[in-house]
Amino acid sequence: MTHESRFDPWTSHQVITISDESVGLRAVIALDDLRLGPGFGGVRMRPYSDAYAAIDEAQRLARAMTFKHALAELPYGGAKSVIVDDGRARDADARRALFERFGDAVAATGGRYIPGVDMFTTLADMAVIRSRGATVYCADADPSPWTARGVFAAMKAGAAGVLQASSLDGLVVAVQGVGSVGADLARLAAADGARLVVADIDPQRAATVAEEVGGSVASVEQVATTACDIFAPCAVARVITPSVIPALSCRLIVGAANDTLDSPECDELLRERGITFVPDYVANAGGVIHEHARALAWAQADLERAVEAIGRRVTGLIEEAGPGGSLVGAALERGRRRLRAAHD
Ligand code: NAI
Repeated sequence: MTHESRFDPWTSHQVITISDESVGLRAVIALDDLRLGPGFGGVRMRPYSDAYAAIDEAQRLARAMTFKHALAELPYGGAKSVIVDDGRARDADARRALFERFGDAVAATGGRYIPGVDMFTTLADMAVIRSRGATVYCADADPSPWTARGVFAAMKAGAAGVLQASSLDGLVVAVQGVGSVGADLARLAAADGARLVVADIDPQRAATVAEEVGGSVASVEQVATTACDIFAPCAVARVITPSVIPALSCRLIVGAANDTLDSPECDELLRERGITFVPDYVANAGGVIHEHARALAWAQADLERAVEAIGRRVTGLIEEAGPGGSLVGAALERGRRRLRAAHD
């Protein structure tokens, strides 16, 4: 095995590998833990250095989904799938054929895996998977605005509990990545009085959002370490690394990006620096709550209440962790309690 991982590969409920060379499909479905319900989690499509890297990413992300659903009190297990993008599905027909075969594999799980959109997959791809008889979420609505609302609720709760700030008024919030979620989050924070610093690899997007919210633009290289009260990672995974932590100059980290911490010890290193990290899978659950609400045809008011509850959850975790304590530890403990209770 060439790929190095700290994830124990034997701890997943089930890992399914799929290959159909006739359409260039190589994919992995990881079902992490199904005690709370069928495994729900997005389909990610990107290049991987080798098969082990793809399997490892699917398993790690599926584990985070287990805790995301447990913490959000949703009736789903944790799952994730990855499709290896090796450039073979170049045109629309080839992509469709690939997603049809992948859809067959999803349908064969008999509803134990429910896919949704993730990095580099689209609502149209989900519609193709659904056309093969699979249960699919996110096939016709973008969850991002609800993810942003949930992250904002988590940010407000973090500001209150950690920074003793009753609003974001006057606080500096740095947002890394102003795409679907980050731009909405920047708008919500600005409306609450925050001063925004934004960055994006798309300079035009960064400039447009900065102008809209009356904020400034930071470089992609420097946004994580820019002087701010709250850093909100809303772009890529694993931006908080042991080498970045000494240079951070925020007091609170809360954002949408899945898998924000490069490794588990980063949480300890952050606390040594007096920086509180709100677990990404707690803050960014608004999207899955939205999908669940759509599947069950909830009223809008119920959806809003459930997404706002993310803020109360963060407040509870801050209390459970105690001064200087780990919100990651408190969240994992809560999640494990819920999983044990489902098992009993
Ligand atoms: P998006 O693709 O709409 O936006 C990401 C933005 O980040 C883009 O504008 C992109 O140009 C920018 N970006 C990429 N790499 C960057 C870098 N190194 N530095 C600065 N900017 C960079 O994605 P979306 O939907 O807004 O998601 C953002 C993050 O939140 C992702 O990590 C995603 O997995 C996570 N997430 C999203 C949910 C949703 O409902 N959309 C739900 C839960 C998690």
